[in-house]
Amino acid sequence: MAKRSIRSLKKMKQTGEKISVLTAYDYSFAQVIDSQGIDIILVGDSLGMVIQGHASTIPVTMEDMIYHSKIVSRACKNGFLITDLPFMSYTSPEQATENAARLMQEGNAQMVKLEGGSPQVETVSQLSHHGVPVCAHLGLQPQSVHKIGGYLVQGREEKQAKQMLDDAIALQEAGADMLVLECVPVDLAKKLTDTLSIPTIGIGAGRSCDGQVLVLQDMLGISEHAPKFAQNFLQNGRTIQQAIAAFNRAVKAGSFPSDEQCFF
Ligand code: KIV
Repeated sequence: MAKRSIRSLKKMKQTGEKISVLTAYDYSFAQVIDSQGIDIILVGDSLGMVIQGHASTIPVTMEDMIYHSKIVSRACKNGFLITDLPFMSYTSPEQATENAARLMQEGNAQMVKLEGGSPQVETVSQLSHHGVPVCAHLGLQPQSVHKIGGYLVQGREEKQAKQMLDDAIALQEAGADMLVLECVPVDLAKKLTDTLSIPTIGIGAGRSCDGQVLVLQDMLGISEHAPKFAQNFLQNGRTIQQAIAAFNRAVKAGSFPSDEQCFF
């Protein structure tokens, strides 16, 4: 597999090749993920839960993200590296620019990810203007868990669905290069994917998305509370390498997620 770039990932959407994404937080797992041909490695702020043992992503700091991004980056030979901007690190375009620069310069990220719709349009525009590739994140936004009142499916009501569509278009027009959709009903995720020219990456958002992402611990079956949309690929006597290869195959074949792992 050739080294993934923003260009090759966008091309995959055009040609219909599904994009595989897994989170990683350390060198060893990132090296295994990269060697199995996963297209994108995400240093997610989910590390607050699966690495640090917090109840949410909220305590995660910029220093944490830079540390994990830096060590994961050493393993990214072919995969594309995206790193999350943590909670409260992008409350203004200026703060976002400063922190995105740190993730890229100190953490070696190739793209930064941030949560939010219309309130983030100006920030995305400024980041894009300064040459920072941006992955937006709509649907369930874990950094807003206390505002939402739980880890709940988003976009089931017509008004909320319309808002999500408008937000996605505005983010794309502002310069977003990719969009993560978390816990979104399958029909809405399909509409968003069909409408946008940038790739959509689903997590609990159905098979129509241009790609699929899972938290590594969820797909290895070692999370304390695996969400409904996750699948344990470390079964039937597989090694970790084989489990990651099986996830990659399932994403590429469009067989993951199953209907039971989707929201309607
Ligand atoms: O933090 C994370 O791991 C994420 C994925 C769940 C998309 O944002």
